[in-house]
Amino acid sequence: MSIQDQIQAELKTRNAVLVAHYYVSGDLQTLAEETGGTVSDSLEMARFGKNCDADTIIVAGVKFMGETAKILSPEKTVLVLDEGATCSLDIGCQIEDFAKFCDQHTDRTVVVYANTSAEVKARADWVVTSGSALKVVKHLKEQGKKILWAPDKHLGNYVQQQTNADMLIWQGSCVVHERFKADALKTLKAKYPEAAILVHPESPQSVVDLADVVGSTTALINAVRDRDEQTFIVATDNGIFHKMHEVAPDKKLIEAPTMGVGADCESCAHCEWMAMNTLENCLDTLKTGKNEILINLDIAKKAKESIQKLLDFTA
Ligand code: 13P
Ligand code: SF4
Repeated sequence: MSIQDQIQAELKTRNAVLVAHYYVSGDLQTLAEETGGTVSDSLEMARFGKNCDADTIIVAGVKFMGETAKILSPEKTVLVLDEGATCSLDIGCQIEDFAKFCDQHTDRTVVVYANTSAEVKARADWVVTSGSALKVVKHLKEQGKKILWAPDKHLGNYVQQQTNADMLIWQGSCVVHERFKADALKTLKAKYPEAAILVHPESPQSVVDLADVVGSTTALINAVRDRDEQTFIVATDNGIFHKMHEVAPDKKLIEAPTMGVGADCESCAHCEWMAMNTLENCLDTLKTGKNEILINLDIAKKAKESIQKLLDFTA
């Protein structure tokens, strides 16, 4: 029996569903879809997990995605494929420091990105994703609110510029998107002047400034499918190419450069934590029931309020 067939059988036995992010390997993405699960951005992963009627959610992604699934579905068992798969934004925003920062600015509405721990979400008023940040901050600005934003400085700066909201910004970043280089991107664009440039807003501002489309993973995939250009330069984790090729098989996709002045590697637009998700550890997790996400009830209750606001707002 192939490993995919074994996973499918285990999913049935456990009444489990596989929920994958666009950055994990293509074989996991395909399997998630073929077995009645989903592959999507972090917002839709959360929504799918909440609405499905499985007893167990298997999250192929990183820790904060598993925690969000558990917070929204405390009655379900949530398993991740590797307990060590985390995110530099989550690591860079520890609750002790973050709580102090919030305590110093109690006049501000606390808005945190989904790429944070359950504890940080519990301390926040709102949780947002890359696909919803602009809308939520615009809404809060219209209500006259001043914002404390964490943890991604690039996404925070982008949202601040687009909305003109009063934002105090935590200085975290994504190690993957941080590596894109504007100079090298300009050189590449000169080589492919017909190409559209697609950029995830976790990228540095100099890269965002060159973009034709700035958006969440879903928005970037939709741009490849819907826009007239035949060539796209893509500044986000290269796991996304699997879905982009699927929705637009005839279009040419080029990775935005991570090399150039200040580069620490040649081709590194892939998240090392997302890469920890494999078919092998998916099967192992299903067989053993290991890597279960457990969250303190009080923390989960508070975090749920701020995530639920987002789900209601974006419904
Ligand atoms: P999306 O919400 O756009 O899927 O992004 C999640 C993420 O971790 C990007 O690096
Ligand atoms: Fe975190 Fe960046 Fe990896 Fe996304 S790509 S999970 S933001 S480190």
